[in-house]
Amino acid sequence: ALTPAEAASRLSFEQVAANTLDTVTLPKGYNWSIVATWGQPLWSRGTEFDEATRGTGASQELAFGDNTDGMAMFVDGDKHVLAINNEYTNRSIIYGARESKLPENADDVRKGKAAHGVSVVEVKEAGGRWNIVTDSPLNRRITADTPMELTGPARGHDLLKTAADPSGTTSLGTWNNCGNGRTPWGTYLACEENFNGYFSSSDENYKPSAELSRYGVKTKDWGYAWATADERFDISKHPHEPNRAGYIVEIDPFDPASTPKKRTAMGRFKHENAELVIASNGQAVVYMGDDERGEFLYKFVSDGTYAVGGDNSDLLETGSLFVAKFNDDGTGEWLALTPETTGMSRAEISIHTRIAASKVGATTMDRPEWVSSHPKKAEVYCCLTNNKNRGVKPNAGGDDTSVNGPNPREKNNYGQIVRWQPEGGDHVASGFNWNLFVLAGNPTVHSDAYAGSANVNADNMFNSPDGLAFDTTGLLWIQTDGNYKNEGDFAGQGNNQMLVGDPETGEIKRFLVGPKECEVTGITWSPDRRTLFVGIQHPGEKSNSHFPGGGASVPRSCVIAIKRDDNGLIG
Ligand code: FEO
Ligand code: CA
Ligand code: CA
Ligand code: CA
Repeated sequence: ALTPAEAASRLSFEQVAANTLDTVTLPKGYNWSIVATWGQPLWSRGTEFDEATRGTGASQELAFGDNTDGMAMFVDGDKHVLAINNEYTNRSIIYGARESKLPENADDVRKGKAAHGVSVVEVKEAGGRWNIVTDSPLNRRITADTPMELTGPARGHDLLKTAADPSGTTSLGTWNNCGNGRTPWGTYLACEENFNGYFSSSDENYKPSAELSRYGVKTKDWGYAWATADERFDISKHPHEPNRAGYIVEIDPFDPASTPKKRTAMGRFKHENAELVIASNGQAVVYMGDDERGEFLYKFVSDGTYAVGGDNSDLLETGSLFVAKFNDDGTGEWLALTPETTGMSRAEISIHTRIAASKVGATTMDRPEWVSSHPKKAEVYCCLTNNKNRGVKPNAGGDDTSVNGPNPREKNNYGQIVRWQPEGGDHVASGFNWNLFVLAGNPTVHSDAYAGSANVNADNMFNSPDGLAFDTTGLLWIQTDGNYKNEGDFAGQGNNQMLVGDPETGEIKRFLVGPKECEVTGITWSPDRRTLFVGIQHPGEKSNSHFPGGGASVPRSCVIAIKRDDNGLIG
């Protein structure tokens, strides 16, 4: 029987205990199944995933991408489509069939580029299971080579021009798409995050500009080796190419022939997700985090207003950018990034957004990850995942990172969730009030601020909140991308997980524990709220998982569908 406290709770499930199992653990009365797995062909002309080779460039181009992240379900009549980011790849997994576990030739690079981007898949439910509709005309792979259009203030600017695109209006591909957004007019927003890690220089003495350095572009890549097979990733030959990544990409999930549009008006940084709300005056307001230590939190406000049932295809093409300043007294302000406040042109603000934000004195944050807006009131939440550099060293722009209001702990290895209420309940207002919903921590190890806030205890503790989404009832779903070693500062916290928070009471309960060495990221519901789709990213990133196949199988990132055994509502 439930205790009175349990009966009063809106979190009507039995909390899952932390664990280090190599599977997905859910509360009693819930079940999960696989919807889409890295390497699974989307068309019958593709080939089944080959455990021995782990696929080729050709097989990957016809298959679901790797490292599932942000996603959204779209519905048109009886058609259900999932648009799903494939953020990046783990060399040790996708090239694990090679002794070196490294990309060694052009086909390896082709496979790597094809494993990135976005997978758009029609899915269908039958017998309580959701599966990809193989050969659906709606299925689409968007990869690091898909033609895109550059739109907005930076379109055609000299900084976007390259040898292959002297007009600076088109670019090839999207990669490292982390979180996502969706619009009320039915488009999907894929958010380019760590775009820098794919560029390198064949000339070791090449010195990246200060602007490239602010974005972490270096002469060495992160091991993807794309420049070895595709010269545009060589910055000594094509120094403007990195300026064509780091944007939000708008995609029509029901038109596989459409050209994705990069929205430069929404700024260039390491985009996490894009939380879009329509303000009371009809303008589209998009909240966006820049996930890097000591970087900022942004807001885009469209020039135009949302036309219900009308043509909104250009609404995200022009607008104003703001960056958050949090005051220690619980107030805050959105600082406008304009030619007047920054001394930069509109195009330069769109391309070098971080530099513009530093000029106006924005608040350095502990890695802003996903933002989510309460469905029933004007209150917005953002995960600040962690920041080992807080109070230790400035950000890449030299901005001070001493502790401040919403980022109150030095060497913050647990993270927190900040929330703010726009002045007058109006998302276009420049003022707001803020407080912390939760400070994550470990009360079994610490008794100071690192124990966490009062709503954290030995039974629900976690670290590094990252994915974040409200359900339609106003419960807050929290996904973690943290330290899973389960010892020291992280003792008792187990594998990465998903929790549910009640914004009204502060209560937090653990709903899901992921398999070994995964991150839990990406969340969307079926329209009837009887299925919850969740992403399991990089299980076995350090070679200690065989999820989901078990036995000696290759670990594979996948999307799962969670249902109640009684097919009841979730959330
Ligand atoms: Fe791709 Fe900030 O996580
Ligand atoms: Ca993330
Ligand atoms: Ca993260
Ligand atoms: Ca990740």
